[in-house]
Amino acid sequence: MLPLKEATKVKHDKAERMPFNNRMFKGQLTKAQYLLYLKQQLPIFQTIESIGLPHDSLKRSLHIQEDIDELTAEGIRADLMLKSTQEYVKYLSSLTYEQLLPHIYLNYLAIMFGGQIMKKTVPSSGRMYDFDDMQEALQSVRKVQKDAWAGEVNKGFDFAIQMFAELEDECAAG
Ligand code: HEM
Repeated sequence: MLPLKEATKVKHDKAERMPFNNRMFKGQLTKAQYLLYLKQQLPIFQTIESIGLPHDSLKRSLHIQEDIDELTAEGIRADLMLKSTQEYVKYLSSLTYEQLLPHIYLNYLAIMFGGQIMKKTVPSSGRMYDFDDMQEALQSVRKVQKDAWAGEVNKGFDFAIQMFAELEDECAAG
């Protein structure tokens, strides 16, 4: 069996190269566009965190809420929950804690790796990317990680890819 990172590389690279993500990476998102992204991330992380986490240091919901509050205080608005977000939240809600673990790997390691680059380029303080103890948070996921998760992680990547496509459509629609 391939190591998890290798077995999910094709989808990772596709997600990484989605135009919305690319513009986030290059510091080209407006505050309203970034707020719309945060409004998709919040229900995803809230749903995961209502089911459970391997370690409390992973918790992201309050951090994401702080980023949302910061932009909202500036008068920025974005109130749409995209179809792909609704579908992913519905899917996550149907999982047991054990079944959820591949999605914890996907979403939390995304913040710990790519996210640390994003922190410097997004139009907010990027509290979402701040961990009190990132090594502790990372190790809590690494300890339970299994190569057998590849199919489920790839499924999670498909939801993320769909979300980035919808975000780009929203930007194009203005
Ligand atoms: C511009 C966007 C992105 C960049 C620049 C980026 C970059 C990276 C980098 C440099 C790593 C570490 C690779 C290594 O250890 O050699 C990584 C790992 C990872 N990324 Fe991304 N990434 C991006 C987007 C995403 C997205 C959108 C997701 C998921 C929704 C994601 C999920 C992951 C995961 C799960 C890992 C951990 C792989 C492992 O070590 O097991 N990334 N990313």
